[in-house]
Amino acid sequence: MTLIEPSLSAPARVASKRTVLMCRPEFFTVVYRINPWMDPALPTDTSLAVRQWETLYNTYLDLGFDVKLVDPIDGLPDMVYAANGGFVLDGIAYGASFTYPQRQPEGPAYMDWFGDNGFDVRVPANINEGEGDFLLVGDAILAGTGFRSASNSHEEIGEIFGREVITLTLINPSFYHLDTAIAVLDPQPGFENPNIAYLPSAFDERSLAILRERYPDAIIVTEEDASVLGLNSFSDGLNVVIASRATDFERQLRERGYNPIGVDLSELLLGGGGVKCCTLELRS
Ligand code: ARG
Repeated sequence: MTLIEPSLSAPARVASKRTVLMCRPEFFTVVYRINPWMDPALPTDTSLAVRQWETLYNTYLDLGFDVKLVDPIDGLPDMVYAANGGFVLDGIAYGASFTYPQRQPEGPAYMDWFGDNGFDVRVPANINEGEGDFLLVGDAILAGTGFRSASNSHEEIGEIFGREVITLTLINPSFYHLDTAIAVLDPQPGFENPNIAYLPSAFDERSLAILRERYPDAIIVTEEDASVLGLNSFSDGLNVVIASRATDFERQLRERGYNPIGVDLSELLLGGGGVKCCTLELRS
């Protein structure tokens, strides 16, 4: 047996306080299929989903996060996946415009919350699914397309926030949102050489070349860890909340000096979402 210790060369990691928005899965169920994880024929247990979600919520509170809540709406079972509700940076909330009609009412519901809570709301002109496909890494926005967010939303988000936008094309339907294929490890704005973790096979060649060039030290996760949505994780710069079943990712994080914290969201995986999907970062 080998004991895994943080390597001596790993830099000291520093936690930063995050502010996030979540939505309790009171109406969670799987009644339609808009990604390969969803099977309406399989039973779901809403109270188990709520209990599992509460462990994530309590984990964030224990880490000192400021956690805001948006009211769930009956008939919108995917509203628990708050990451898709928009993209929030510099006090500006770029609203979501969902691909599938089943989720479209979530767009205005989240925009109402942003408006009521003091954010400068920008109604989207193009299809986009918020932080599901937009990830802030350092000063750049990594932007996913291929299954959900349309590439014209990448231009739109670039104009709104005045940041560099890097388009990445997803090719595996199981990893249909960028946040299922990339984890942001150093979320602090302006962080020098922020790092990521990713699943190479989720991307086309052009995108892979960009990722290899920009993030030569990235953690490469196994197909096995990605297939429990291990990459769908949330970091404060030190603590990385991940799927408890992603054990090799956990080992790699520890080696790099991060503190992985495993949670089990098996019920929410039935809808095709994990830790990050349930978490929308609010950056004022
Ligand atoms: N059932 C949802 C959908 O297919 C899951 C969304 C997961 N969210 C995410 N940020 N990856 O839209």
